[in-house]
Amino acid sequence: MQRPWLLCLTLIPSVLSSVIGPRQYGVIIDAGSSGSRVRIYGWNPADDGGVPDFREIHSMKAKPGISDYADKVSKLADYMDPLISEAKKIIPSDRHGDTPIYLMATAGMRLLLEDHANSVIDALNDVFEDKAKNPFFYETQHTRILSGEEEGVFAWIAANYLRGFFSPNSKVPNAGILELGGASTQIAFIPDGAILADKYPVTVGGRSYSVYVHSYLYYGQNYVVKRIRERLQEADPKAYTLDNPCMLKDDGACEEIDGQQYLYHGTGEPEKCLQMMQRFIYKPHEDFCYPQPCSIGTVYQPTIEAEVPFLALSAFYFPPDRLKVMQEDGTFTPENLRIAALDFCKKNITLAMNETGETGRFLSTECTVALYMSELFTSGYGFANDTQQIRAAGKINGRKIEWPLGAIIYETEKDKCRSSPKYSAVRDASTSQHLASPAQLVLCAIVASTLQLVQRQM
Ligand SMILES: *[C@@H]1O[C@H](CO)[C@@H](O)[C@H](O)[C@H]1NC(C)=O
Ligand SMILES: *[C@@H]1O[C@H](CO)[C@@H](O)[C@H](O)[C@H]1NC(C)=O
Ligand SMILES: *[C@@H]1O[C@H](CO)[C@@H](O)[C@H](O)[C@H]1NC(C)=O
Repeated sequence: MQRPWLLCLTLIPSVLSSVIGPRQYGVIIDAGSSGSRVRIYGWNPADDGGVPDFREIHSMKAKPGISDYADKVSKLADYMDPLISEAKKIIPSDRHGDTPIYLMATAGMRLLLEDHANSVIDALNDVFEDKAKNPFFYETQHTRILSGEEEGVFAWIAANYLRGFFSPNSKVPNAGILELGGASTQIAFIPDGAILADKYPVTVGGRSYSVYVHSYLYYGQNYVVKRIRERLQEADPKAYTLDNPCMLKDDGACEEIDGQQYLYHGTGEPEKCLQMMQRFIYKPHEDFCYPQPCSIGTVYQPTIEAEVPFLALSAFYFPPDRLKVMQEDGTFTPENLRIAALDFCKKNITLAMNETGETGRFLSTECTVALYMSELFTSGYGFANDTQQIRAAGKINGRKIEWPLGAIIYETEKDKCRSSPKYSAVRDASTSQHLASPAQLVLCAIVASTLQLVQRQM
């Protein structure tokens, strides 16, 4: 009589977890400048105590971004409602109370004035703290504006997690990340020696890592284009038409700043463009660099060892791809990228459109960003011209490398070490929970009685 029950009990964790779904959930609302995306993650605690298999099981986006609500914060409740409702639909209602929900805002909110940003965050707190609106587990610090460094470190966690670096007994080396957004660019890696500044502690799978991370605000791709234009305006303040060496020959672009109009005319002179970039990717006199060494200006950065692999993510993926300088595994050298960019940027817009089959809109930006990348990586970060350590990566094993994945891993793994009653309760339940759910007990009873029936008939 006992045996079927025992069999049933041992089967449940493996067989039923797939039927019943993940045992833990987490929700991250990724609040970007153009919109907010609710991402629902599910996972089962790893049996070996290692890092669980975190999966994004669903996501949905709302437009525009929350930074657009700075002057109408009372409307934020209606804006958040469909996002929270989506999570309510996907996650079983008996799990709502122990599922944490976070709202993490990025670039758009970082650029708001401080009191505007604070009033948006306060209004969001009111929404999430209202149990009628939000049934999920929430604490005040769950809504926050990420620093550029947090965004960089979360991308580092996501990339290394997908590489398998955090798996127990993993032989995979950790990889640094290089990331390019519209407003900022991030670098994160584990250096060989001590980290004298910009150190970020990360705990994953019960192990701690010290990651060096720096975010350069105003060094994102939109701002590089903007900096070049500003330099041209300064050089000739009264001009309406400005020759732009960073644009393809005969390409044109209009811009209005403070009521004044500018027309940029591409001259396709990449060497001149590189010289302009060297004014904001520069080394200071060493008296101004503390601690040493420095990457750009007075920003400290430990030396990058030649054997550490690096992944070029997000907008860094496109130039080496478009200019066809990648090997099959994505590896490219800054030198080959520069050579291809110098060649591409000299073309006239007609020829470039003909060769790429693209409309002209982004081709000059692609030229600028390709030149910028090669200059930033070598003169800024200090990679060798011919290094083989950088690989452009959009996905790993078919999964996108995105900071929210790193954020849910960071938040969950960090709490493992905390003696909060809530989290220890979830952890302690990991053995008893195999039996605890009513659905599981019903299923178990059916399986057991069927087995008894079969046994009797045999
Ligand atoms: C663009 O460049 C190509 C190749 O140098 C040349 O044949 C063509 O005439 C140029 N087109 C224009 C519109 O200048
Ligand atoms: C490029 O130009 C060639 C020669 O004029 C033409 O045959 C071809 O269709 C053009 N390709 C594109 C993508 O416009
Ligand atoms: C890399 O190549 C550029 C362009 O050829 C050159 O100016 C620079 O000195 C090189 N850097 C190193 C470290 O060799």
